[in-house]
Amino acid sequence: MDDRQMRPDRPGAAAPHRPAARPPPIEVRRLNKRYKGGPQANQDVSLTVAWGEALGVVGPNGAGKTTLVRQITTELVPTSGTVWVLGIDAVRHPDQVKARIGVVPQEARLFDQLSASQHLRIFGQLRGLSRRGARRRADELLQQLDLQRYRRTASAKLSGGLRRRLLIGIALLAEPDLLILDEPTVGLDVESRRQLWAVIRDYRRRGAAILLTTHYMEEAEALCDRIAVIQDGRLTSIDTVENLRASIGHQFKLTYQTRGRRRTLYGNDEAALAARVRAAGVDEYTVTRTTLEDVYLTLTKDTQQRSGGDGAD
Ligand SMILES: Nc1ncnc2c1ncn2[C@@H]1O[C@H](COP(=O)(O)OP(=O)(O)OP(=O)(O)O)[C@@H](O)[C@H]1O
Ligand SMILES: [Mg+2]
Repeated sequence: MDDRQMRPDRPGAAAPHRPAARPPPIEVRRLNKRYKGGPQANQDVSLTVAWGEALGVVGPNGAGKTTLVRQITTELVPTSGTVWVLGIDAVRHPDQVKARIGVVPQEARLFDQLSASQHLRIFGQLRGLSRRGARRRADELLQQLDLQRYRRTASAKLSGGLRRRLLIGIALLAEPDLLILDEPTVGLDVESRRQLWAVIRDYRRRGAAILLTTHYMEEAEALCDRIAVIQDGRLTSIDTVENLRASIGHQFKLTYQTRGRRRTLYGNDEAALAARVRAAGVDEYTVTRTTLEDVYLTLTKDTQQRSGGDGAD
């Protein structure tokens, strides 16, 4: 599948001050990855991320999201296909790519004995900042990520959520044009998650591009301009939430109770849905717009079930 024809016309997607000739932050073409002695984890995946865009990659466990991400971040070499990052061939020049992107991997380690502040200062210098510059940037990030209280705490003593915040701080150190996050908020409490969303949104607003994977549909909806659905290694949909919603004919969801059971109807015509249940003698129901979670569940359901159109579940 190729998203070039599917990408909706979104004038706001590209920051106006950027010259048109600037290569896209991510361009993946016909990517295949087969692990040695393992599965074909990515099959013929093609996608492009635009400047100023946040692309959310969603899909079931084992679908191939992390495999895709790790080829973009150059940790894995594709079996075939091409990956261009910021106009650089990621297979041929992994070091150049790595130097210019910020990455929060799904499984990331910190140095147990080092504090939050030490991590940021050391990684800042490794990223080419001066000693003083690294200290300044570390202070800025500690504040932005609300980690000041823990600046001197050894990372081994930080909670899982605090460690993830620190990892995001490390990824942002060199203010990269492209930020790639693999399940950035897994295990975070609601408040920490919202706080990280604000950091990510703020980052995107500055014109950076973002690719993130998540299992939280609310997160994908809150942060991403477009959603890519990966199933069994294949890209099965890529579009805005609005277009995905419309494409499956499920813009509205009507729920009601009958004989102690909760029933749900989906459809694009709100009035028609209501008329249907009223005709059946139901006068207590709620109609809401479908969420990305509803859309995702429909998209990832068996095609057979999907072809039934509006129907009760
Ligand atoms: N290093 C590896 N060696 C062999 N097989 C692997 C390796 N890493 C992943 N796989 C397999 O490749 C497939 C895709 O895995 P991947 O980690 O990309 O999925 P994912 O979509 O990120 O899943 P999750 O949502 O659980 O993180 C799975 O079948 C997985 O078992
Ligand atoms: Mg993964």
